[in-house]
Order: sequence, then structure tokens, then C-alpha cells
Amino acid sequence: MSVSFVRATVREMAGYTPGEQPADAARVVKLNTNENPFPPGEKVMQAIAAVSADSLRRYPNPTADAFRDTAAKLHGLSREHIIAGNGSDDILTIATRCFVPPGGTLAYPDPTYSLYPVLARLEDAKGVAVPWNGDWSLPIEALLQTRADAIYLANPNAPTGTFVPPALVAELAGEFPGLLLVDEAYADFAGENCLQLVGRFENVVISRTLSKAYSLAGLRFGYAVAQPVVIAEMMKVKDSYNCDALAIAAATAAIGDQAHAQWTWQHVRAERQRVTAELTRLGFAVLPSQANFVLATVPGDNGKDMYLGLKRQGILVRYFDLPGLTDKLRITIGLTNENDALLNGIKSMCLTKDRP
Ligand SMILES: Cc1ncc(COP(=O)(O)O)c(C=O)c1O
Repeated sequence: MSVSFVRATVREMAGYTPGEQPADAARVVKLNTNENPFPPGEKVMQAIAAVSADSLRRYPNPTADAFRDTAAKLHGLSREHIIAGNGSDDILTIATRCFVPPGGTLAYPDPTYSLYPVLARLEDAKGVAVPWNGDWSLPIEALLQTRADAIYLANPNAPTGTFVPPALVAELAGEFPGLLLVDEAYADFAGENCLQLVGRFENVVISRTLSKAYSLAGLRFGYAVAQPVVIAEMMKVKDSYNCDALAIAAATAAIGDQAHAQWTWQHVRAERQRVTAELTRLGFAVLPSQANFVLATVPGDNGKDMYLGLKRQGILVRYFDLPGLTDKLRITIGLTNENDALLNGIKSMCLTKDRP
């Protein structure tokens, strides 16, 4: 049924579909939405417990300065280089409203994070999907040819986990007259990142999240790093109090406790290597990943059957019913015992299939 008073753009669009969040998450092996398998550290829980009733009564600091100062120290920058958001999805919304005018163009290599076209659409702008090169390298010329107002580059990319070296991102930033947003939701699991490009290029914004690397997907906290003149413009666009008092306290403690976070990243990197090797041995083709997940092509090409078979065993992975992805599964790297459950679940299905 159509609702005549809704903007035609909204009425006609599908909206973003988030990954499945089962009600009884404790009973499933949940490897479908790239969460960190470890809980946040003790310092985060203490910071949340220390939030006073009075600071909940009052509005929070509108620009989350305690967080900005701690993040600035971590990155060797100033507070003015940073804007905080209610998850990095909020940062992406702010960026799209700030840099992509109605009737304009947002370009992105494809496949990538499926929120980007939704954000372009909401702005009444055009989302232009530029296919990755065959070897998953950056299609620089094709991106430039779109003459877009902004380019969004997830690096490492989702759902592939592939990584574009910072030197190539710098080449694109140097040649592109518009805004280049590098979505580094997964950068902490990679060997390198593009933060240093902010000092060299006024048109580069780096987006980060505490959802993955800092075990805080449920809290909703992200931030962007860019030159102060750019951050000042983004500040005009954000909601007045886009980060709440609890989130500011917890996120500040999380980013201040690098030892805990880095310990989780080391586990993920080691398990990523093991899961990749095991899946390869089982006949999957696994893309080299720099993220906390892998994209694996299922032997026999039937991603959906494998996804459903795992689901029946209480193991959730992500299946995308999209062109080029139907033979693949995106699998989040979990705890060792969760990864074992996944591998055993796959092995049991392969055995059943082979039985006469
Ligand atoms: C590439 C990418 N960017 C951003 C996000 C959003 O993260 P957040 O939880 O910070 O909104 C995701 C979430 O899966 C993602 O995959």
C-alpha cells in the first residue's frame, strides 16, 4: 500500500537490510555480522558503571570531546581532526549529507558495503557502482570517469576482506577533485591503514568504528578523521547530541585501553589464517582477507544450500543473494571453539553429501 505523503524517494526504495540478529544469540554460533568475538575489557565496563545519574539527567557533551581528545592522542592529531558519531553508519550519513548534493553522484567500487547506495538514494543522489578490477585491485580510472561528488572506499572491503595499499588510495585522492571517504571499519585487523593520508590530502576523510575492533557493536560509536576545515563542516550536519553520555564514557575507555583491543586483533589474525587454510583444504576458494571475516566460494557453487545447512546446525554465516555473490559465504572469524564448530559443521555436510 502506498502512503501518498511519504517522499517518493523513500516510498520507492527498499532500505538497508541488516544482518540477522537472533533473539537467542547465546544458542547460536554467530559468525554473520563481523562482531568481535571477545567482550569489551574491564575498563570499559567500569567506565559505564561510573556514569553518574546526574550525567544522565543532563545532555551529553555535544561533540564528545573526552573521546576526541583520547583518539587524537592515539593518532598523534588534534581534537579538531575528529568528529564522533553514533556508530560509523552515522558518520557515513553525516558525510553523505555533507558532501553529496541532491542530484549529485556517489561512486564506490562494487561489491561493497550495501549501505552506500541507500545513503545516496536518501539524498536524491545517484549511486554509481564501479566493478572492482578482476584481481580485486582498485579501478582508479573507472572511478575517476564517474565524475562523482564523492567516492566511498571500504578498506579492507566488505564483503571481500580485500585490501587496497595506501599508495594506490593516495593516487586516487590526488587525482580526484571530490571527497574520498575511506571506510576503515576493519582497518585494525589489517597490516596498514590510510590515516596518514589525512595530513596530505584535504579531500580525504577516514571513517572508523568501535563496533568491530573494540567489541562495542551494541554501544554504537564511530568517528571520522579529516583536516579541521573538513571536520568543521561535518559538525554542522550532525544531530546536536548524536552520541550519548554512556557511549562517550565507554568509547573513551575502550580506545584508551589499546592493550586489550590489540590482544583481540592478534587472536583474530591468527584464527583468520587458520580458518582460511582449513577452508582451502576443504575445497573452498578463500580471498586473502585483511578483515575479521573471510569471503569463501563454496565448492559446487551453492552458497545458499551451505548457508541453510549451517543454519540448521545453529551456525549463522552471511549469505548475499546478489549478483556475483550467490556462490559465496561471508564468515566472521570467531573464538577458536566457534571456528571449530563452523569447520566441523561444514565437514559433516560434505560427508553427508559424499555418502552413497
Ligand atoms: C564497511 C563497513 N562500514 C561501516 C559499518 C558500520 O559499522 P557501525 O557499527 O560502526 O555502524 C559496517 C558494518 O558492518 C561495515 O561493514
